[in-house]
Amino acid sequence: MKVGRITLSDRAHTGIYEDQSGPEIERVVEEIFAEPIEFVRVLLPDEEKQIVEALRRLSDQEECALALTTGGTGPAPRDVTPEATRQVLQKELPGFGEIMRSRSYAKVPTAILSRATAGVRGRCLIINLPGRPTAVRECLSFLGPAIAECLDHIR
Ligand code: MTE
Repeated sequence: MKVGRITLSDRAHTGIYEDQSGPEIERVVEEIFAEPIEFVRVLLPDEEKQIVEALRRLSDQEECALALTTGGTGPAPRDVTPEATRQVLQKELPGFGEIMRSRSYAKVPTAILSRATAGVRGRCLIINLPGRPTAVRECLSFLGPAIAECLDHIR
């Protein structure tokens, strides 16, 4: 299975700090899925146009089954990941964001600050995850069954 993972962070992109969330996506995805995974890795600043282009490339050219973003889902002026994602989705699946927020809220009251969404473009499932490595693990850990079922429907 081919999986795209995109880290959206101005500071990680300029090297102010190391991207830890992208590698964490890889670790959790490999734990969730039994099959071998080929990752396509992208690191971008919080620029809507660049995010749109990357999501189109991962779904249309790279033919990823799954594209996971991390970061840029919050309320800050530069957080534009959900807006970019909605531009490329053909079918939105709001349940992913709803469950991430409600399940995470039990542990982290600030989970409601994430505007993460998800949906399908062609044969690719795109999901936004919050930016912290701990949030990546927390959210992905309970999305596994829904991701697998969705891939059965679109592949
Ligand atoms: N969800 C989980 N599970 N764990 C977290 O630590 N952080 C929250 C929220 N969701 C968090 C979480 C915070 S503090 C913010 S601001 C939003 O995700 C948005 O984060 P982002 O802009 O890095 O995507």
